[in-house]
Amino acid sequence: MPRNASQTQPAPASPADTLTVELPTAAATSRLGAQLGRLLQPGDVLGLDGPLGAGKTCLVGGLARGLGVQGPVTSPTFTLVNQHAGRLTLYHVDLYRLNSAQEVDELGLWESAEAGGVMAVEWLSRFPDTLPPDRLQLELRLHPVRGRILTLTASGERSRQRLAELAKARRT
Ligand SMILES: Nc1ncnc2c1ncn2[C@@H]1O[C@H](COP(=O)(O)OP(=O)(O)O)[C@@H](O)[C@H]1O
Ligand SMILES: [Mg+2]
Repeated sequence: MPRNASQTQPAPASPADTLTVELPTAAATSRLGAQLGRLLQPGDVLGLDGPLGAGKTCLVGGLARGLGVQGPVTSPTFTLVNQHAGRLTLYHVDLYRLNSAQEVDELGLWESAEAGGVMAVEWLSRFPDTLPPDRLQLELRLHPVRGRILTLTASGERSRQRLAELAKARRT
């Protein structure tokens, strides 16, 4: 694009940074995860937040399905990191039991992402000092009648792209 194009044409609408989705059932959460899983690219980092029982692990189960992972997805609360082979390697991480950003750094998560894996990290935002700048944050809230409300927030070009693709997949 010519350098002065922005002066002569309207700028393209910038993709939205957030998307909110109602998830009435665990099956809906899993389905949303699978939709996103089909779109993931090497190096993508997803952070999952929300209280215990919000559905973080349930959503990662869907991601795994969307990535073509065969086996079951169980909570990595005690193992810290579970690795699943699929179209891409899925690293499912739970930081609930960790206490410091240093302990998180020692897991080498971002190196594994850079090596072509996909990271799905429960409780990622507990450790603001270790957050990779470009990540897709998924926050699950319990709703008294509507099951769960999921808010997805992108913080960089890569995650914004993924969010736009997910919004499109949900429309078609
Ligand atoms: N809309 C929903 N989305 C996700 N889980 C739901 C939903 N409705 C009910 N559930 C139930 O809530 C529980 C969520 O557990 P889990 O995924 O392990 O949560 P977390 O990893 O956030 O602690 C599961 O038993 C699931 O069946
Ligand atoms: Mg969990």
